[in-house]
Amino acid sequence: MKSIHEIIIEVDKLVPIPQVMNQILAIAEDPDSTMSDIAEVIIYDPIITSSLIKACNSAYYALPRKVNSVKEAIMLLGLNQVIDFVLIKTFSAYMGKEHLGYGLNEGELWRYSVSTALMARDLAERKHASNKQFIFTASLLKDIGKIILDRFVSGAIEEIDDLILSNNYSFREAEEEVIGLDHAELGGIIAEHWNFSPEMTYVIRNHHMTDLSALEDYATSVVYLAEIAAMMTGIGSGTDGLAYRFYESVLEGLEITEDDLQETIALASEHYYDVMQLLSIT
Ligand SMILES: [Fe+2]
Repeated sequence: MKSIHEIIIEVDKLVPIPQVMNQILAIAEDPDSTMSDIAEVIIYDPIITSSLIKACNSAYYALPRKVNSVKEAIMLLGLNQVIDFVLIKTFSAYMGKEHLGYGLNEGELWRYSVSTALMARDLAERKHASNKQFIFTASLLKDIGKIILDRFVSGAIEEIDDLILSNNYSFREAEEEVIGLDHAELGGIIAEHWNFSPEMTYVIRNHHMTDLSALEDYATSVVYLAEIAAMMTGIGSGTDGLAYRFYESVLEGLEITEDDLQETIALASEHYYDVMQLLSIT
């Protein structure tokens, strides 16, 4: 199919992620990471260092004295919050633009991704998962395929809508049928292109359960459920909104009740506004 070739060319043209990001992703994936591991990586990146210190010295924290180093910043915020901050800040450059094919104005895909990541971490915390940071990161990045597929969806939206309305396709299935590639598969291709780990690539590629055996995978199931929860809040979700399949067995598999889900939505939504406020400062 002609469009697949054009899409792959776009992947090759994509701006590489900063090298420091692969190191930060590795730290995020390792539950045994320490504060020194992250400090060692961040101190060599002046942009990340300065925005982190600026955030710590903002009125948001109202500290009695100024933070002057990465180590102090990590002591103040904690390891996970520093990793969140760096990931959210860095990937906003890729996901913060408008994606009109999906009906998303400037910043909406990014806000939606942040909201999903916070939902995912709350769900993982509820179940005392050891890989919470991995799940947060995978949730944040799962829709990365949309940054390229957007233009192709835009040119095919009538056909896509038609398949959803008349033939009961999900949005992902309609993308695959009309364009030849869906945003989850393309996200997997981008993840490989950026040398993400096979585990991260797998979750991104299957976050809509393209391969139904992913229902058995813990991290993919949490990311999938978090996306459903995020869609329910309406923060930054686009025209594809609720046009995805819902596999109720995920709730059972993860032992999450509907009450848990409601609590997650409430807590993560509250946390979302804090994170946004903090990031707007830097
Ligand atoms: Fe998606």
